Amino acid sequence: MLADSFGEKKQNRMYSQDLLLNKVNEALNKIAYPAQPENLYAPIRYELSLGGKRIRPVLMLMAYNLFRDDVDSILSNAIALETYHNFTLLHDDVMDRAEMRRGKPCVHKVWGDNAAILSGDAMLILAYRLMTEYNQKEPEVVSKALKTFTEATLGVCDGQQYDIEYETRNDVTEAEYMEMIRLKTSLLLACALKIGAQLADASDSDADLLYQFGEKMGLAFQLQDDLLDVYGDPAVFGKKIGGDILCNKKTYMLINALQMANEQQRVELNQWIERKEFDANEKIQAVRAIYDAVGIRQVCEAKIEELFAESLRALDLVDVESEKKQGLRDFAHQLMHRKY
Ligand code: IPE
Ligand code: IPE
Ligand code: MG
Ligand code: MG
Ligand code: MG
Repeated sequence: MLADSFGEKKQNRMYSQDLLLNKVNEALNKIAYPAQPENLYAPIRYELSLGGKRIRPVLMLMAYNLFRDDVDSILSNAIALETYHNFTLLHDDVMDRAEMRRGKPCVHKVWGDNAAILSGDAMLILAYRLMTEYNQKEPEVVSKALKTFTEATLGVCDGQQYDIEYETRNDVTEAEYMEMIRLKTSLLLACALKIGAQLADASDSDADLLYQFGEKMGLAFQLQDDLLDVYGDPAVFGKKIGGDILCNKKTYMLINALQMANEQQRVELNQWIERKEFDANEKIQAVRAIYDAVGIRQVCEAKIEELFAESLRALDLVDVESEKKQGLRDFAHQLMHRKY
């Protein structure tokens, strides 16, 4: 909020989530990638043309909008983050042997692994370029935001590494899982909000509280993603169901199902984890049947509610009028109940 020359407080304009999403979409559509080499840029255009929810750039703009209303001035930062996120998806789909994303075949399925790797690399570099070269803010502010970005992006690599290592470990604890998803998923949501605050020149304390809000929300978000990977509708979710089960991903559900299972269910679950040759659908059905029998869905949903409630407590502490934070509260609620 700015004080005008008469000493009264001037309200900054609050943009709706839809309007901010439109701004993000327009800015992403305006990026003109080089025509050549065709097979480097075609996968980038493809991935970004498939949309996705675009929550990270919208969160950045919403956080900025708590303090200032010239949101267009940070659009390049917002689309930088979305470009970075899409890069992680190209590589993640190779690492997870995934087939579908956003209802379409993954880049590595269309162009091959090499294209997913190199086009992904290019997106990472383009993301840094968008964060720096096109930045309209003061150098000190830019450098603060860039530090936040770099810390988060390096942390995502740590998280992805643990995620892969845990596929072949059978003693992963819930605490290890939570730390892994904090790294691979939460850091990006948290940094979206923190960068938004930093670019608006908000106080360090508000930037940190928004970071904490994103961190907790990110945990809930990944738990929901894991839940949808088992119970989602593939036509809506846009990814093949059961991918995590096939990869033996040590999700909150698997870790807790192993704890809650009776002896017979535990033996059966472990057999499916150990088996090298199996029919994919049979494994997915069998593991899901054990999840259903122990009631893991309800346990996971309760944890999601708990994490979202925690995230909102951090948001409440941000030193901004409560009405201005309503958009972010609504956004968090939507994410909690999302189906894709
Ligand atoms: C997918 O992220 C990767 C996770 C962290 C679960 P999103 O669910 O935000 O993917 P899109 O961009 O909307 O497709
Ligand atoms: C998402 O984890 C983490 C990153 C992409 C960095 P997932 O592997 O669960 O994401 P999806 O389900 O493939 O989107
Ligand atoms: Mg994946
Ligand atoms: Mg993954
Ligand atoms: Mg997933």
